[in-house]
Amino acid sequence: MADATYKIQEEELIRDDITEYLHRHETKDLLRFLTCGSVDDGKSTLIGRLLYDSHMIYEDQLEKVAKDSKVYGTTDEDFDPALLTDGLKAEREQGITIDVAYRYFSTDRRKFIIADTPGHEQYTRNMATGASNCNLAVILIDARYGVITQTKRHSFICSLLGIKHVIVAVNKMDIVDWSEEKYEAIKDEYNSFVSRLNFSDIHFIPMSALKGDNVVERSEHMPWYDGPTFLHHLEGVNISTDRNLIDMRLPVQCVLRPNLDFRGFSGTLSSGVVRVGDEIASLPSRQESKIKAIYGPDGEIEEAFAQQAITVTLEDEIDVSRGNMLVPVKNIPHIGNEFEAMVVWMHEAAAKAGKNYLIKHATSMIPGVLSDIRYKVDVNTMKRDKNAAEDSAESLELNEIGRCHITLHRPIAFDPYDRNRSTGAFIVVDRLTNATVAAGMIVDRIVSKPGHKKAPVSQNIVKSDSLVSAEDRQKLLDQKGATIWLTGLSGSGKSTVAQQLEKDLIDQGHLCYILDGDNVRHGLNRDLGFSMEDRTENIRRIAEVAALMNDAGVVVITSFISPYISDRASAREVIGDDSFVEVFVDTPIEICEQRDPKGLYKKARSGEIQQFTGISDPYEAPQDAEITIATDQLAPEAASSIIIGDLQERDIIK
Ligand code: ADX
Repeated sequence: MADATYKIQEEELIRDDITEYLHRHETKDLLRFLTCGSVDDGKSTLIGRLLYDSHMIYEDQLEKVAKDSKVYGTTDEDFDPALLTDGLKAEREQGITIDVAYRYFSTDRRKFIIADTPGHEQYTRNMATGASNCNLAVILIDARYGVITQTKRHSFICSLLGIKHVIVAVNKMDIVDWSEEKYEAIKDEYNSFVSRLNFSDIHFIPMSALKGDNVVERSEHMPWYDGPTFLHHLEGVNISTDRNLIDMRLPVQCVLRPNLDFRGFSGTLSSGVVRVGDEIASLPSRQESKIKAIYGPDGEIEEAFAQQAITVTLEDEIDVSRGNMLVPVKNIPHIGNEFEAMVVWMHEAAAKAGKNYLIKHATSMIPGVLSDIRYKVDVNTMKRDKNAAEDSAESLELNEIGRCHITLHRPIAFDPYDRNRSTGAFIVVDRLTNATVAAGMIVDRIVSKPGHKKAPVSQNIVKSDSLVSAEDRQKLLDQKGATIWLTGLSGSGKSTVAQQLEKDLIDQGHLCYILDGDNVRHGLNRDLGFSMEDRTENIRRIAEVAALMNDAGVVVITSFISPYISDRASAREVIGDDSFVEVFVDTPIEICEQRDPKGLYKKARSGEIQQFTGISDPYEAPQDAEITIATDQLAPEAASSIIIGDLQERDIIK
């Protein structure tokens, strides 16, 4: 169909039957693209030429359509120029002005959104914002000058922001006499540096935006070029495989409870596919259930795809609230409170290592620390900044990009950005001014090695010494500080053994003290639950407390399930191998369950308690504990005397 005829028909349809028009319009797919180049490269000329030559529907009409689509109650968000995350969109008004112009147009094959950002060097943040949702980037090169620094910078940022498709528009071919050699030389030069970047396809088009060659109409001046025109390529480039349809992630935006019988969880599916009957887990609690029903804008549906706004209901009453994420049981993202990320700084107030910020990720806002700026990236060369010191940088200035280490106050569920743009992106918000100061892309999680003692968040703390030595304290108390670390299942008898041991040691004149899970969780650790991360933090704090008490000369008896080998290894490292006596209270789970002193196993079996060690959560038994006690064969008194014997042998007590 000729474009002009098409346009007339479209206009008639808009006038006569807007519903039908919208329907047709909605079933077309959408390509978001970004044009990168400076003013002189001919960016506006290219866009103008594109719109003019193709007789496309102009912005103002589509704005009307956008309004109409709201009136008609569709949830088509296509007209909403979504930014890096929903958050950035919301934050836009409150902090920074980002200079991105969006233009909408459509042909009979596709709908398009163009994000147009100023090309000046200082506007990395504009580009980052514009590029974050784009499928494709148009990198404009002036045929006279070829690949320049800015070309590299734009390409790097596009790659960083996860754009997979690139059109290199070699413009102003008319000024270089339509020279094939010039064009080939530019192609070679671009190809030689771009291999380091993460694009899946790069397409070169020689053109003259001014004269209209190869924009919409084929050029008569460059018969040697047999590829598609600019518009033809835009209409045809395959973006359907870009969507991540594997990792289902549904960040819960709100919980709908219109009446007692209905409890729905609404959000925009950020990636993957969800179907009725799918087994899902809610994060971070990891409680599991099945999808009972899915509701789209027009009612119940069997399945939903990435980017659809949906509401789901679940088979079971599990804990799900705003900010949680529903994911497949068999495909769970990373859960953690530390990660490394590429951070684009967007604010005049520079980033400072060690400073506290708010991190907005998916639908939650969490306090966190920019614990380290590992290095800055020179966006012009795409390399680590040579001028930067070997070690971490102190700050990141406006428009700078750095690889940072971020530590949150509580864990989140995330994916690396290159796998999932929505669960891998975050924004950084200043705690005082509430302004958006940066955007980040998660590169990797930090795997903390067992026993790895981390540096404090603040760099401005210096240890001070005491005038009293460990020996002074030992003399005073006639004992060495040490920790008897009891580990075992709930109900295994840890507390009973601990209490007997404490009594016997005191009777013999030794200062000792019990740290017990159930007790400490009422005070120091009342903020912790039973997720893997919380248990790790529970044990970390206890190990630190025990180490302090040992230093004071006290014999500490700890009674914690401490189910993970790595956590116990960390505790050993913090306390010191010489002062650490690991005691495995080895009672078979059947016996623990029979005893069930607090009725918790019963609750765990009925599903009333989740993540219960031994039932629905793992226990990693020690392989080489100093002492193993089988409580079904040994009375507490006997267990206590074995431990006391061991302490004497180690010269901890006399
Ligand atoms: S640990 O795993 O982090 O070391 P901790 O020893 O502090 O656990 O606390 C365990 C005690 O908490 C148990 O003895 C039990 O009384 C109670 N408890 C409550 N919920 C759980 C649960 N899901 N798993 C294990 N213990 C639980």
